[in-house]
Amino acid sequence: MTITDIIQSKNVVSTFPNRGLSLASGNGVYLYDEKGEEYLDMGSNFGVNLLGYGPSPVTEGIKKQVDILINCHGSFGNPQRSQATKKLLEQVEKVGLTGFNRILWANYGAEAVDAAIKFALIATGRNRLLSPRNDYHGKTLAVLSVTSSNEGKYQKPFQKFLLSTDYFEFGNIESLKKTISNQHAALIIEPIQAEGGIILPPEDYLVQVSELCKEYGVLLIIDEIQTGLGRNGRFLNVQKYVPGGFDCDMILFGKGLGGGLPVSAVVIKEELNAKIPKGVHTSTTGGNPLSMTGVVAFLDELEKSQIIDKSRVISKYFFEQLRNLQTKLNDKIVDIRGEGFMIGVQLLETIDPMDILKKLQQRKIIALPCSKDTIRFLPPLIIQKEHVDKVCQTLEVILS
Ligand SMILES: Cc1ncc(COP(=O)(O)O)c(C=O)c1O
Repeated sequence: MTITDIIQSKNVVSTFPNRGLSLASGNGVYLYDEKGEEYLDMGSNFGVNLLGYGPSPVTEGIKKQVDILINCHGSFGNPQRSQATKKLLEQVEKVGLTGFNRILWANYGAEAVDAAIKFALIATGRNRLLSPRNDYHGKTLAVLSVTSSNEGKYQKPFQKFLLSTDYFEFGNIESLKKTISNQHAALIIEPIQAEGGIILPPEDYLVQVSELCKEYGVLLIIDEIQTGLGRNGRFLNVQKYVPGGFDCDMILFGKGLGGGLPVSAVVIKEELNAKIPKGVHTSTTGGNPLSMTGVVAFLDELEKSQIIDKSRVISKYFFEQLRNLQTKLNDKIVDIRGEGFMIGVQLLETIDPMDILKKLQQRKIIALPCSKDTIRFLPPLIIQKEHVDKVCQTLEVILS
């Protein structure tokens, strides 16, 4: 055990599960421990490092800003914030979602969710929320009200403090029809349930959800914190529904938006902004110039590198290889699900996914848990066929 490992287990508050590995640096698709041992990163730090690690145009941009200005309170304007705001709004417009012209900049995913909930409650004057069972939106106290994944494991200790929320079955429009009413301020939903097990809804589902929300005057909050920014092979997961008539009131971003720096965003339209009084949500570091430089550099690089288009080719190969493996090991692998580089491998219920993750880690591959029977791959978008081959061959050895 290194001193880093000891401090991690003895002095850092133990709310995080301990993976028994300390990581010191990264390059491309690899992470390195303090001894320089190389790990293939198939988790990108829970979806953050979409472009991988090491020197890049994104890190160059961030470095320059460090000497110029790191923080600037949101009550003052700032050129980096203006640039990031303009760029993200342009990207949203490009995918066909119109009317979005305001951004609240926050620091991490759950803060954006929290702010979005507050916006909905105050703008509608209603006092109930709607969310699918098994969704994950983060862990602040208010946000736990809509985070019911893992059979409510994170909510249970705080049950009596949660906001009034009604839950419905994800992917089942009849279940929502029975639940929705004009008492609901907002419906918050993940386009794909990620932490909940990589669960995809039926093709027409989100269009129907958006129509029902309109009918009842319920604000629709789309949480693209994990699915967005290319993770599912498109800039936004929901852009595929726009031709079918899909619309929403708030779009949430987080994870990789700052090129690795902590930043999140609530993107809204003018009519909602007009109903939000001053002071409803602020934070000291939200929209700071350093994170904003990360946003601009990241969005620039995402566009210039055309990595989203390229990643779709490798994603197709990854799914093919995993499905071949499922055919060979159909007594161990129950299902392969996902889109782009958000992939779940559901295992037979007698297999402990944590044990498989441990064995992958022993063989120098980092993957992630999700739900009680599924392992999750969220690699950087830059992985190549050789990395897919290594993962599939290693998984075959472990499961055989
Ligand atoms: C869909 C979704 N929403 C919100 C969050 C919360 O983000 P954070 O952990 O940055 O608070 C996550 C985190 O995994 C997420 O996947």
